[in-house]
Amino acid sequence: MTSTSSTELSNPELLATVGQIAAIISESSYAVGMTGAGMSVESGIPPFRGADGLWTKHGTPQMDGYASFKKDPTGWWNRRTNRKIDAHINELRDALVKAEPHAGHHALAALEKQGSLQSLVTQNIDALDEKAGVENLVEIHGNRTKLRCIECGDRVSLGDFGPLFAPDPCNKCGGVVKFDTVMFGEPIPDDVMTAARAEIDKADCVLAIGTSATVRPASGLLWIAQSAGATIIEINPTETKLTPICEVSLRSTAGVALPLLLETLSP
Ligand code: APR
Repeated sequence: MTSTSSTELSNPELLATVGQIAAIISESSYAVGMTGAGMSVESGIPPFRGADGLWTKHGTPQMDGYASFKKDPTGWWNRRTNRKIDAHINELRDALVKAEPHAGHHALAALEKQGSLQSLVTQNIDALDEKAGVENLVEIHGNRTKLRCIECGDRVSLGDFGPLFAPDPCNKCGGVVKFDTVMFGEPIPDDVMTAARAEIDKADCVLAIGTSATVRPASGLLWIAQSAGATIIEINPTETKLTPICEVSLRSTAGVALPLLLETLSP
């Protein structure tokens, strides 16, 4: 297992480790990316944990968000429309509205296009992977630009929905509608959980980028992949719980490492 620390990374060491990752990917038959909040830090969106993490600054939110929504959806939406929401939600939302894909997002889309990467499972809700052109994408924690019915799972685009009021009931089944983003305490919707597991079960290589690998069930997929014999690679400036099971850990950022990986793997 190779692990290089970001502070000591000289260009030759960075390139050598990128070369190792490229060799593993080119040998693999089904490489899957698994991204976390660190993937979008270079797009201006703060991570949740670590030195600059939202939860580090504002404290981890209550785990009962979904339960309180289900108890009184209209009340939840009314509080939301009056912006009586937590500081961290405002900080996150303001960053999300302004964010654009960075070179790392575009590199992942290009790696998929050239067949080096077969799919991407993201824990991010920022829709930047889709915007960068990734096609085989599973957004396991939802997508901030969509609404979802909690009864039938139907998703619709937010379009120009404010929210100035609670959304109409689901036009398919009349069920209660919420943001597609998975709330704390909300089960991962079956469709995306099944799709993410299917991708992991096909993978012989998983590229974990910008995730602390701490939030289940999403992070559990990484250990499932490893126990099924897949090679785990990590791109993260800091060590994580995942590091001990990684074949290669590159202590770099997504915005630096992924364009180099694309350059190394481009035909
Ligand atoms: N490039 C790559 N990785 C980075 C960068 C960067 N520029 N900056 C930070 N990181 C790393 C951090 O070192 C950290 O390990 O990204 C990781 C971010 O970890 P978290 O903030 O815990 O994000 P994530 O793993 O996605 O959290 C999972 O937790 O709160 C929930 O729903 C939320 O989807 C999120 C889930």
